[in-house]
Amino acid sequence: MLSITNFRGGYYKGASIFDCISLDLRDHAITSIVGSNGAGKSTILRGVCGLLPWHAGEVQFDGERIDGLAPHEIARRGVRMVVEGRGTFSGLSVLENLNIGGYRLSAAHRKGRVERELVRFPRLRERLSQTAGMLSGGEQQMLAIARAMMADPRILILDEPSQGLAPIIVDQLFDLFPKLARDGTQILLVEQDVGRGLEVSQHAIVIEKGRIKLEGSSADLLEDPRVQEAFLGLN
Ligand SMILES: Nc1ncnc2c1ncn2[C@@H]1O[C@H](COP(=O)(O)OP(=O)(O)OP(=O)(O)O)[C@@H](O)[C@H]1O
Ligand SMILES: [Mg+2]
Repeated sequence: MLSITNFRGGYYKGASIFDCISLDLRDHAITSIVGSNGAGKSTILRGVCGLLPWHAGEVQFDGERIDGLAPHEIARRGVRMVVEGRGTFSGLSVLENLNIGGYRLSAAHRKGRVERELVRFPRLRERLSQTAGMLSGGEQQMLAIARAMMADPRILILDEPSQGLAPIIVDQLFDLFPKLARDGTQILLVEQDVGRGLEVSQHAIVIEKGRIKLEGSSADLLEDPRVQEAFLGLN
């Protein structure tokens, strides 16, 4: 269970990019962070993963404070992020990328997990020995998610997963998210297609200039005229 309280952070001390961010993932399978370009969404995600030079406030995970821990310690507790623009090892094969995601597992266990991810992402099976850099954008995104899932994370943080992908691939990805959540991985999602992000999530916050402007159930926010006007091109 991840909760963020009065979280504040940025790239330089004294110049916070976000402030007073509180968010509780509770029992929500999928939680969305919505905001326009430059609002601070990616920076918040980096902060949660321990990747910001400075921050204040608290991030708790399973009753333990994780803010201040090194990124690999946060990852080891089960919080994994797939970054904007993906982040696979382009010179390594698909299989090698997956194995890296499960590097802490025994060989037998790792093999089982690779098989599970190949069932989830059949396209990757056909590409198993190709280098990641040779994959299409959508395949790379699938690989990045599959690699993160190799560790069976409790929380999967996704920054703009649909970026640059063909609509049919986006459909496949968004069909997958509730399934991952049902299998026990909560998702914290930043999605440029706000309507889609809200449809797949149960709870959401809307960020403006680094602060929470609105918070509520995703269904309510989808109906909120302020959200419709700012993000959905309605009204
Ligand atoms: N590495 C960095 N160093 C300094 N400032 C940064 C850095 N990355 C982002 N920023 C600044 O932080 C602010 C928030 O950026 P951030 O990337 O978090 O926005 P975002 O909401 O994710 O936007 P987008 O929707 O475009 O991805 C912006 O003003 C940006 O210029
Ligand atoms: Mg961003």
